[in-house]
Amino acid sequence: MAKRKSMYTCSACNANAPTWMGKCSNCGEWDTLVAKKEALPRETSNAAAAFATSVNQYGDEKEAIQLLDIEAPSIGRISTGIEELDRVLGGGLVVGSVVLVGGEPGIGKSTLMMQAAIGSANSSQNNSQNNSQNNSKPSGSVLYATSEESAYQCKLRAERVLGGMEAEDLSGVYVLSDTDLERITAQVLKLRPKVLIVDSIQMVYRDDIESTPGSVTQIRRCCLELVYLARQLQMAVMVVGHVTKDGQLAGPRVLEHVVDVVLNFEGDRHYALRGLRGLKNRFGTTLEIGLFEMGREGLVEVDDATAFLDPDAPPRAGAIVCPALHGSRCLLIEVQALVAQGTYGQARRRANGLDGSRLTMLSAVLEKHAGIDLGDQDIYTSTVGGLKLTEPAVDLALCVSIIGGYTGIALPSDVCAIGEVGLGGEVRSVPQIEQRIAQVRRRGYKKLLVPINQQKESGIGCIGVASIGDIGAFLQENAIEIPSDTRLSDQEKSKFAECG
Ligand code: TYD
Ligand code: MG
Repeated sequence: MAKRKSMYTCSACNANAPTWMGKCSNCGEWDTLVAKKEALPRETSNAAAAFATSVNQYGDEKEAIQLLDIEAPSIGRISTGIEELDRVLGGGLVVGSVVLVGGEPGIGKSTLMMQAAIGSANSSQNNSQNNSQNNSKPSGSVLYATSEESAYQCKLRAERVLGGMEAEDLSGVYVLSDTDLERITAQVLKLRPKVLIVDSIQMVYRDDIESTPGSVTQIRRCCLELVYLARQLQMAVMVVGHVTKDGQLAGPRVLEHVVDVVLNFEGDRHYALRGLRGLKNRFGTTLEIGLFEMGREGLVEVDDATAFLDPDAPPRAGAIVCPALHGSRCLLIEVQALVAQGTYGQARRRANGLDGSRLTMLSAVLEKHAGIDLGDQDIYTSTVGGLKLTEPAVDLALCVSIIGGYTGIALPSDVCAIGEVGLGGEVRSVPQIEQRIAQVRRRGYKKLLVPINQQKESGIGCIGVASIGDIGAFLQENAIEIPSDTRLSDQEKSKFAECG
């Protein structure tokens, strides 16, 4: 961190001196030199100013203020023209804020940014109250600063994602293909856009910093400048950040503290579906998820709970649908498990889209309370579509799929499961069961395995499960297919019978 140096100024003639002296070398007066702190270097002062602007709305006010007396300024929001993105942001881009959008290469970040650029240029600013400060601001244009592609490539993408819009709708979008932050800033000051998009922060650099573009120092410094610009010019800034090999967003989390909103664009590149999830949001919830499908004409918003299901898939052993909550939305997602012979003592546990440590714990719970021997079995689990399921309510579906994968028993495709599993094998209640049941019914599922104490309120079609020891018996009773080679041995059947 930069240190402040002490300077000495003559109180008679204002001349500066690096060290204290009894007599001013400029005017010759005695005992007039007084110590003063030198201003911080530019990057630090910018950062400090940015934070001061964001934190202290009351200028030089040093007195503590009663919470009741603080007048919160109205938040001006700019719609991106993309409903799913606006919802994840909490109602649109906040004027004066910085949003970091992360994701793996090729996931569709630039496509999303170009669509948001066109959408924002054509949307009006919405102020919750008529605040004069916000009203006096943006001119209405959007500046798309690309540090990775040429302006021509941007034009090609823009034409591709225009969809039903007219070519004139591009008139408010300006493109600058540059990597030098000072030149980008110069254009921002000239154009005064309402939204600035920087794609990506890893390629942007400042000439006066010695480290290479993409280094932690460069990224941090450039991002701090963008925060400062956003606050000073009252514009919304969206910054694209790459995810590193070990899954970190734009370097070792350096930016997440600096920006106001962090969004992660996730999904499997090999599937068309994408989820946009909020990891941090100073102006809204982080529970919401935006769904998109990558098509020939860019990203299309998805508003369907069954988007992650394959309607033509036949019933399979080791697969079950789970009604998982994502913010205000309930999505039906298939959980799959493959249980294969491994080496005793070196059994593998792999979770794709699920919590790996939860999988290890549930495997131990299944051994103990469902009577199946998984000690020499490799378990691979996954969610279809690449979307991450993090809530513990998915435990029961995971256990059913592991037992199904182990025994080879397939359930009818109209069965789904929801419930949290405890260390004692007990199935615990989950939040918002009514919403999940309603969604499952709406989509035509006939049976839903639920925690036993939520069965009463769930009504017909819901089967209460007290313990994961009950699942074996349920699978046996409802099996539609038991392949002969994976059929349970008599010994295992008796184990299930005992548990059930
Ligand atoms: P891109 O937005 O460049 O990804 P990122 O900026 O995250 O690296 O695009 C990702 C992929 O999406 C690219 O390989 C091509 C594909 N794509 C489509 O399938 N349809 C489209 O309309 C566009 C614009 C891209
Ligand atoms: Mg890109």
